[in-house]
Amino acid sequence: MDEWGVLEEEIRRCRRCPLYKFRRNAVPGEGNRNAEVMFVGEAPGAMEDKEGRPFVGAAGKLLTELLEGIGLRRRDVYITNIVKCRPPHNRDPREEEIKACLPYLRRQIKLVEPRVIVALGRHAARTLFSEAGLEWRSMSRQHGVAVEAVVNGERVILFPTYHPAAALYNPGLRGVLEEDFRRLKNLITAKRSEKPRSLLDYFSQSS
Ligand code: URA
Repeated sequence: MDEWGVLEEEIRRCRRCPLYKFRRNAVPGEGNRNAEVMFVGEAPGAMEDKEGRPFVGAAGKLLTELLEGIGLRRRDVYITNIVKCRPPHNRDPREEEIKACLPYLRRQIKLVEPRVIVALGRHAARTLFSEAGLEWRSMSRQHGVAVEAVVNGERVILFPTYHPAAALYNPGLRGVLEEDFRRLKNLITAKRSEKPRSLLDYFSQSS
């Protein structure tokens, strides 16, 4: 079995925190294992738990649309979560559950080596900012603002935005998410044309 096979098997059998007792399926993640862009959500919901795949419910449908809106398909990017098992009744993941699960995300980041990590929602954002030793204040201040970071020894750009589920409850956020995804597209395109320094200067300014 290759490294990915070993990692996914470990996640599927994991008992590092009590969430294993409630799961039908752990959800390791899916997509392009050499992706330039990695999306990190919060935790699986009911559909994800049923299928063992990330973002396949209502929030996933919106994520797919947002990706397609900037010319990306799900299979172009890697999609995973901070916590790989569904918390009961979709409650927020607890600190100790996030801590127990983080080694899996660290290994995924090492294997994918993404240039950009998109944190979907405040749990993913505060966890990834903490991993990078950066201060996290709030999504309202920091969404859509790219930050250069070192996460687990890898140089990446962290890009926080709202969780797609938030836009399902608050339709006003959909436009904000669309705008953030446009900024993300510009960031990726400009990174490809190798002007990362000036680009980051540009994107690091709050809108
Ligand atoms: N919400 C998440 O944060 N992750 C999923 O996989 C599905 C919904």
